[in-house]
Amino acid sequence: MRPICHQRLPKDRCEREALRQTGQFWTPDWVAEFMVAYALQDRPTWLLDPSVGTGVFFRAAKRYAAVNRLELTLFGRDVDPDMLAHAQTSGLDATDLRHVEIGDFVLNPPSEKFPAIVANPPYIRHHRLSASQKASLRDFARATIGRDIDGRAGFHVYFLLRSLCALKSGGRLAYIVSADICEGVFADTLWKWITSQYKLDAVITFSTDATPFPGVDTNALVFCIQNERPAERFAWVTCTCPDAAELVSLLSGRKLQEYKTVEVYERTLVEALSTGLSRAPAQAVTNRYTLGDFASVMRGIATGDNDFFFLTRRRAKELGIPESLLVKAVGRMRDIVGEDFSNEDVERLEDRGRPTRLLNVNGLSFDQLPVAVQKYLKEGEARGLDKKTLIRTRKPWYRMETRKSPPILFAYLGRRNARFIRNRAGVVPLTCLLCVYPKQADTAFVDRLWKVLSHPQTIGNLRAVGKSYGGGAIKVEPRALERLPLPDELVRAAGLDDYAKTVKPPTLFD
Ligand SMILES: C[S@@+](CC[C@H](N)C(=O)[O-])C[C@H]1O[C@@H](n2cnc3c(N)ncnc32)[C@H](O)[C@@H]1O
Repeated sequence: MRPICHQRLPKDRCEREALRQTGQFWTPDWVAEFMVAYALQDRPTWLLDPSVGTGVFFRAAKRYAAVNRLELTLFGRDVDPDMLAHAQTSGLDATDLRHVEIGDFVLNPPSEKFPAIVANPPYIRHHRLSASQKASLRDFARATIGRDIDGRAGFHVYFLLRSLCALKSGGRLAYIVSADICEGVFADTLWKWITSQYKLDAVITFSTDATPFPGVDTNALVFCIQNERPAERFAWVTCTCPDAAELVSLLSGRKLQEYKTVEVYERTLVEALSTGLSRAPAQAVTNRYTLGDFASVMRGIATGDNDFFFLTRRRAKELGIPESLLVKAVGRMRDIVGEDFSNEDVERLEDRGRPTRLLNVNGLSFDQLPVAVQKYLKEGEARGLDKKTLIRTRKPWYRMETRKSPPILFAYLGRRNARFIRNRAGVVPLTCLLCVYPKQADTAFVDRLWKVLSHPQTIGNLRAVGKSYGGGAIKVEPRALERLPLPDELVRAAGLDDYAKTVKPPTLFD
């Protein structure tokens, strides 16, 4: 049998793109082990893997069936015919694979229903789906849940719905998927429907050390769902070590007295749906204020082509572009060290050859521009910049997005280092950072707000509003950042509550 190694994201860009297009991320054996144990605990005779790939679930199911003396027939699907050959070189034979059909599981599903389904769906994001695929998926979702699902849902979301539809009454589904399935804009509709129709038995999360997909930028979760009357509570489990033994007992209904490799919490659906199924249980503390009470948030500037529009001061000078047509800007999160960004830092970036000037000729007609700038723009046009995706929607094509310089910047995608940065350099950020505009402009107010935002307790709350990625990274979108809870005692200690009272008058219970 050929050993299956941990899959890593290929270094080569084309290979990486191909992988993202087909969504072929393989489940490790130890994870397949406990997923299969959950699905097979009622001793069914059929098991379906709707996206077989190299056959990891079939192999785990065969092992389980042998140990537990189970007569099991394996059924499968995959769109990729090469997968059958691949599966045959990894420990499965033609008999194991005789019920595997080549075809699309979501849009052309099997007619039978199954008592056990185990799946790792193709992870394909919505912008990689064609318009006709999207339309068919939308129709399928509407027919299934009676409502539209936000168009930003990826293929793996519809795959889950199809898996649930293919589940026999009483049957069990174990589904491994990226956390965005319960963090995306569509998540609320999706999970309210699922948990009103099916019984959510468990959600398994993984600590960084136990991630099923090391090196892939994904926070994976396993959902264990039964086609039974919904229950009010479920087990929320964190797996802290890549070992299946305790999870196998837990998920096949044999609870242990003590766990060493997993942490188990019992949660109510009501709490978990409002906190988010991928997030740890919310503490009882509810915070009265959110960032949006004190500031508004916008994304940074999307130039459409940083190489052309974002220059070092030296390069701008060589090209003859006057400083009056340049805006001081910061282009990369790692160009900002620490939490305070000053003019000296901008100079240091210039010394290191990093760009700090954004070309902005808005408000001037082409004829009014210095000849050197006209020449530079014509060069850009000759290179076809005016035809680029974002740029071609602008009139004229070199018109730049504008932002007032935000007093506070937010580095929104970080491996545990998402942070608020006091912008004392007057820069505008490109898309790598978010702009935070306090509702009062005076320095004292801005500094007090920044202090509250930078506090570890506030930073800890980012998990409640952000999307999680591999290695503990989180990404927070502008609207979500406005929902960031600010701890009451910090707001009070910073003396912001006076201001807050004007935006949120006290209630009867204050
Ligand atoms: C993430 S891989 C998982 C494979 C395997 N079950 C595992 O866990 O390692 C997803 C598989 O789905 C297949 N696939 C892609 N689109 C599909 C579709 N519409 N229907 C069925 N399978 C599909 C891919 O070819 C790939 O083999």
